[in-house]
Amino acid sequence: MALIGTKEMFAKALNSDYAVGAFNVNNMEIVQGIVDAAKQEEAPVILQVSAGARKYARPAYLRKLVEAAVEDTGVDVCLHLDHGDSFELCKDCIDTGFTSVMIDGSKYPFEENIRLTKQVVEYAHEFGVPVEAELGKLSGVEDAVHVSEAEASFTVPEEAAEFVEKTGVDSLAIAIGTSHGAYKFKGTPYLDIERLKKIHKLIPDTPLVLHGSSSVPQEFVELCNEYGGHVPGARGVSEPLITEAAKYGICKVNIDTDLRLAMTASIRKFFVEHPEEFDPRKYLGPARDAIRAMVAHKMRDVLKCSGKR
Ligand code: G3H
Ligand code: 13P
Ligand code: ZN
Repeated sequence: MALIGTKEMFAKALNSDYAVGAFNVNNMEIVQGIVDAAKQEEAPVILQVSAGARKYARPAYLRKLVEAAVEDTGVDVCLHLDHGDSFELCKDCIDTGFTSVMIDGSKYPFEENIRLTKQVVEYAHEFGVPVEAELGKLSGVEDAVHVSEAEASFTVPEEAAEFVEKTGVDSLAIAIGTSHGAYKFKGTPYLDIERLKKIHKLIPDTPLVLHGSSSVPQEFVELCNEYGGHVPGARGVSEPLITEAAKYGICKVNIDTDLRLAMTASIRKFFVEHPEEFDPRKYLGPARDAIRAMVAHKMRDVLKCSGKR
């Protein structure tokens, strides 16, 4: 049991129909819910930490929580930096034991994204740490009225091939219609699977990553709204689209919003039904259970990675 990189898990996922879930962690209950699900499902798992999570929980706490999860469950876990925005942040994570990092230079012009990614790759590879980069801009179809407008920011297949060749990056996050958060689509969820196929064909050996992959389960949205919340019209990527994408090179699927919704729905319901309770364990325990059940469902029914550890 150990903290592990992504090389082997992606090599297995690349030429198969399944993908590995990468779940964002911010506190103990979230870590436990995810790793308990991975143990139950015998699924590979990536726990990822954003800059915001590091700021909230403080870096040492999240690292130690993930180490504790490995010790407690015997499950191998990849500890990944999500959306690293500078060389310095990536370096700090590598120096303190992360087993995978993302450098997100997608907001920069192509050449600058290449320069920054290459700088991180050169440092990370000295320590055997794999690097994920991003090309294209995540914008759901909600951000642009027309699909054609959204497509203007999607990853260009030929650029993806050039980018991988010039940077030596280990995996690549691409934009094909997903976006972050709970409001991804106004109409029918849409992913540009044809574009994904083209990218995969041009760089068949590069594991691809899908950010913004929460499905925003309507049961959680309804519970939030029923028990005093206000998240009207929240909508995610339909789960069958994620399963489909896993067939064409998507090896890593990022999920954060669904964890937030599962946790918040559970806590809101508890507070309304048990106004007399004020012991945090009473509401954080069921929230952890809700996360475990949701993550197990993703692994089993959506990512199809149960039993693939
Ligand atoms: O991609 C973004 C993740 O959902 C992390 O969000 O920056 O609020 O921690 P955060
Ligand atoms: P969601 O907001 O769809 O959960 O995406 C999370 C993500 O991409 C983290 O990097
Ligand atoms: Zn993301």
